[in-house]
This record gives sequence, C-alpha cells and structure tokens, in this order.
Amino acid sequence: MSVNKDIKRITTNTLLKMKSSGEKISMITAYDFSFARIFDQAGIDVILVGDSASNVMAGHETTLPITLDQMIYHASSVVRGAQRSLLVVDLPFGSYQGNSKEALVSAIRIMKETGGHAIKLEGGEEVIESVKRIISSGVPVMGHLGLTPQSIYKFGTYTVRAKEEAEAAKLKHDALLLQEAGCFAIVLEKIPAQLAKEVSQSLSIPTIGIGAGGACDGQVLVMHDMLGINTEFKPRFLRKYLNLFEQITGAVQQYIKDVKSNSFPNELEQY
Ligand code: KIV
Repeated sequence: MSVNKDIKRITTNTLLKMKSSGEKISMITAYDFSFARIFDQAGIDVILVGDSASNVMAGHETTLPITLDQMIYHASSVVRGAQRSLLVVDLPFGSYQGNSKEALVSAIRIMKETGGHAIKLEGGEEVIESVKRIISSGVPVMGHLGLTPQSIYKFGTYTVRAKEEAEAAKLKHDALLLQEAGCFAIVLEKIPAQLAKEVSQSLSIPTIGIGAGGACDGQVLVMHDMLGINTEFKPRFLRKYLNLFEQITGAVQQYIKDVKSNSFPNELEQY
C-alpha cells in the first residue's frame, strides 16, 4: 500500500498527551490487512495485534498455542493496512517468560520483521526485568494486568480479577512498577471499576480498559466480539456494535440460493 505522507501517525507520546487532555483512547484488535485498513481509516487510535488471534483466527481455546512466527505473520499483515494508528503487537506465551534476554530477542524480532511500533506483554513484578531490558533497547512496551489470559491455567477461570484486597494491592504495586520501568500504557483487563479508577488516577501513563469500567483512559475490544462475529462470547462488559454472524450467514445463504437457482451470474455479470 502506498504511504500517504499527509497522515500524521499516532505515537506513544500522542497517547500520553491524550491522557493529559482527557481525550479517551480508542483501541481495537486486528489480525489482517483488510480489517486493519478499515479500522485505521475509521480513525481508531491504536490497533492491537493481540494473541487473541489464537482464539479468533486459529480457533484454539486459549491464547497459549500461538507462536512468535504466527504473531509476526499477523502483525506484518496489519502493518501493511494501517497508516495512522499506533500498532502494538502482543508477545505470545513462551516468547518472554524464560528470561530477559529471550524477551528482548522476541521483541526485536517483532519490531524488525513486522514494522510494528510497540509490544505488549502480560504481568507485573515477575516480568519487570524483561520490561526494562526491552525498553532500554528502544522498544516501547505496553503492560497488561488483571485478567492475563496467558495465565489462564494458573487462574483456572476467566472471572473478574483483583476483587480481594491482596490481589488489588499487588495490581496497584505492579502498575507503579511498570510505569517506573518506562511502559507507555497499561491494559487493565476484567477488574473492578473502582480499582481501575484508582489505578488510572494514580498513574501518569494511560490505562486502557477491557471490562474495567469507564474511568480508564481508553478502551479496547476484540474485533470479533464487538462486531458480533463471535456469538457465544457474551460477557457483561461487551457492547456489540454489529451482528456480523447473522448478516454474513444471510448473505452467504442468499449467494448459495442464487448459484443453485441459476440467477447468479446474470448477463451483466459475465464477459
Ligand atoms: O490479545 C488480546 O486481544 C488482548 C486484549 C484483550 C487486550 O490482549
């Protein structure tokens, strides 16, 4: 795709300025060129190439199976579709938990091989050395606290996190550590709205919520959920803006009918 030099790219600094001015940050996931182009032209601030690709693109039950090579494939496709949005790419499970050198090598592969602008990883204190090492190499890092799907087998459930005082205190501590380490933003997933509000007010960097209430500095949704492609997933926090599953089913059923009845193609649709 040709680059339009008149389009001003959103940067990590733009997000900081948005927090200061009170302008909310919009973020959505994308995994391919075509949707990235639509979301970018619609004016979305941040596109996340989430490891939720493991669920919504590959059909796995969890985010654990997706590989670094597969994330690189998705991210490089998204990069070709977006000219304005900030592009953040998830480090997948197993590509950064071993040690900080492994984390850095994975982050550098993402940056070099996709053209993305930043990486996201899950966790607080337990990954802080990796966060610092990646940031010191010049790669911007977005944190992710609360429900961290790569730890699903530790949690045992996708229910709301940090309802108890001890877990809430650890989350506040982790958020401060991530900010001090130099993260430019933190995703807060599925935690009580009051806790998300306190964390958002205590930080100078933006928080992006998903199931974390309206006081976060921005919001993120998985595209398949908000567009209604996924029909089974109905958490309370999700607002569906379309029902694409039904619309696409209707369109494809009509196409099948037209083919079978010989009404497609007609004379105008042939050479
Ligand atoms: O992978 C993903 O889509 C995410 C969002 C839910 C924040 O991490």
